[in-house]
Amino acid sequence: MNEADYHIPVLADEAISGLITDSDGIYVDATLGGGGYAERILKRPGTSKLFAFDTDPAAILFATERLKDFADRLTIITENFASVRIALANQNVWAIDGIVYDLGVSSRQLDTTSIGLSYRFESELDMRLDKRLTLTAKEVIANYDERDLVKIFRDYGEEPQAKRIARRITQRRTAEAITTTTQLAAIVGEGIREDKKNSTLSRIFQAIRIEVNDELAQLRSSLDQAIEIVKPGGRIVVVSYHSLEDRIVKELFVREAKPKADEGSAISLKQNIDYAKARLKLITPKPVSASMDELVKNLRARSAKLRIAERL
Ligand SMILES: C[S@@+](CC[C@H](N)C(=O)[O-])C[C@H]1O[C@@H](n2cnc3c(N)ncnc32)[C@H](O)[C@@H]1O
Repeated sequence: MNEADYHIPVLADEAISGLITDSDGIYVDATLGGGGYAERILKRPGTSKLFAFDTDPAAILFATERLKDFADRLTIITENFASVRIALANQNVWAIDGIVYDLGVSSRQLDTTSIGLSYRFESELDMRLDKRLTLTAKEVIANYDERDLVKIFRDYGEEPQAKRIARRITQRRTAEAITTTTQLAAIVGEGIREDKKNSTLSRIFQAIRIEVNDELAQLRSSLDQAIEIVKPGGRIVVVSYHSLEDRIVKELFVREAKPKADEGSAISLKQNIDYAKARLKLITPKPVSASMDELVKNLRARSAKLRIAERL
């Protein structure tokens, strides 16, 4: 399979030029995928070292082959980016010059029937990006009570018909086990207007995927660690694809870019002054979107938002 068939990187030039501040630095690609970002980092002049994370063995296999010419400067780590700090410490790396996240899933993962992420293909309801995880989409659909389904459809899918859809699922599953993407898609799509069907299915499938992979908590945790390990002057770069992820990034960046002068009043003056320092500077006060040129070539870029912050 060629690189473009695997995944076309989104906002890659903008993300990587925003990331690199030292051509001989140590960088982290938190979401290796097909290796598009990683290749751009490694091809830049200089002797930078890259540590790249992914949990999907198929992505790692593909990217390892693609990046074999850079093997002396690249370390691939099969770990969730929520373990970035400890995983780097295991490599004896304690501080880095920048980290980039290209969130979500690759085009290849969406099309792979063994994961079951897409309602367009018949496959088992699994949705785990990391097969070491124990919760599958099938179990969510079979075991969550109606209230919990409503909550994930609302919170993670921002789905206006969350209640109706959750009720339909809980009614149907008493008669037949819901085990495949097409079964679930048929149940979710019932009674939904034809022109609204695809967006509803996308929201519901996204919500279940976020729940199965605990995506928002992993992102929050990883970004908190990133602030600790990126050196002053280094960058945190995030490309996100839905508003829930973007909100997490935006809120963290904005919060950390403000001095916390009014907090910690019970601690000593010296500590108070240290604590009052902002830890980030916003490089992109507004998120960067894909250019018309890129949108024409890659529909996936439609929803992408790039945010960059610099460690102070
Ligand atoms: C959009 S793709 C990255 C594409 C890549 N930038 C490229 O240019 O080819 C996202 C990748 O991140 C991985 N991923 C998602 N969540 C992750 C997590 N919490 N930890 C590590 N990898 C993750 C997915 O398995 C997927 O391969």
